[in-house]
Amino acid sequence: MAQSNDIILTGIRPTGSLHIGHMVGALIPNIEIQNAGGYKKMYAMIADAQGLTDNFDNPERVRENVMEVALDMLATGYNPEKTTIFIQSEISELTELTFYYMNLVTIARLQRNPTVKTEIAQKEKFNGGVPVGFFTYPISQAADITAFGANIVPVGDDQLPMLEQAAEIVHKFNSIYGDTLIMPRAVVPKTKSAARLPGIDGNAKMGKSLNNGIYLKDSADEIAAKVKSMYTDPNHIRVEDPGNTTENPVFIYLSVFARPEHFAAFLPEYRDYNELAAHYERGGLGDVKVKKFLNAVMQETLRPIRERREALARDPASVMEILRRGTMDARAAAADTLARVKRAMKLNYFD
Ligand code: TRP
Repeated sequence: MAQSNDIILTGIRPTGSLHIGHMVGALIPNIEIQNAGGYKKMYAMIADAQGLTDNFDNPERVRENVMEVALDMLATGYNPEKTTIFIQSEISELTELTFYYMNLVTIARLQRNPTVKTEIAQKEKFNGGVPVGFFTYPISQAADITAFGANIVPVGDDQLPMLEQAAEIVHKFNSIYGDTLIMPRAVVPKTKSAARLPGIDGNAKMGKSLNNGIYLKDSADEIAAKVKSMYTDPNHIRVEDPGNTTENPVFIYLSVFARPEHFAAFLPEYRDYNELAAHYERGGLGDVKVKKFLNAVMQETLRPIRERREALARDPASVMEILRRGTMDARAAAADTLARVKRAMKLNYFD
């Protein structure tokens, strides 16, 4: 439960439209925090400048995806009355903070950052060399977090090294220049709805480049075709064979999305997930039947989101207006932090 002086910041890179993995891993947990209330302020940043650090040669992609991500967020339940949604690159104070924080971080420390390390190892496109902007994005992320005075940062566990590095920067800044920045704390949502979803092909990760995701903007037909093609248990050959549910994406999705109402409406022979999974494990339950049910569940889950998304997409100007207002609000907070940072660093000549 949030405290009355909590400032909560979430961030997402706009490098593609969002899939059900983002939805359960980030969007829904953040919306639950938003709707529970009790905090002082909640921000949601669309991190386009960070998105450019590994897409600098594809500015159209980043720009288009700012709108795609905004549509996904609003359609899923981000409420601009409760959450200040804003665009990172429109807040130039963030780059100025980044520049001063750069003095507080060594090259060796950045090289040890596990997230940066894995990302560099994954990216064939960095064969030509790692851009300084990408290498230093943990410093810019520390600016994102401290600019708004966030003490709570909900993240997936891949982001924990970023938060650790931000905390080190805050500690070092405050010890050199005096108590100025708020110490941030990572919060990893632990609810069942925050499960990490595998791809429809059984790959542990769902992702655009893997072409194995179900997207919030997918049509009903696309969803049906994807569910039909899903990987299941390769050893479950005949209906009578006992099946595996734990490494089976069809069952993993059902465990996250299927609610008792879905069983009542579409598969009344079973009361809940546990009964269905037990039958599959025993043997005697075919994949076609389970996939038909999963399709019904996914259609019910995604239809209202898709319909809201389509309605919002018909009025992009009003979405931009939401982002513009959020950005103005966020900019005021960042300007205040930057002024305090510069004062602490004795960079206030004309005060
Ligand atoms: N690095 C995050 C991601 O890849 C996005 C992000 C940028 C972020 N700035 C942030 C997350 C600040 C939390 C706080 O998804």
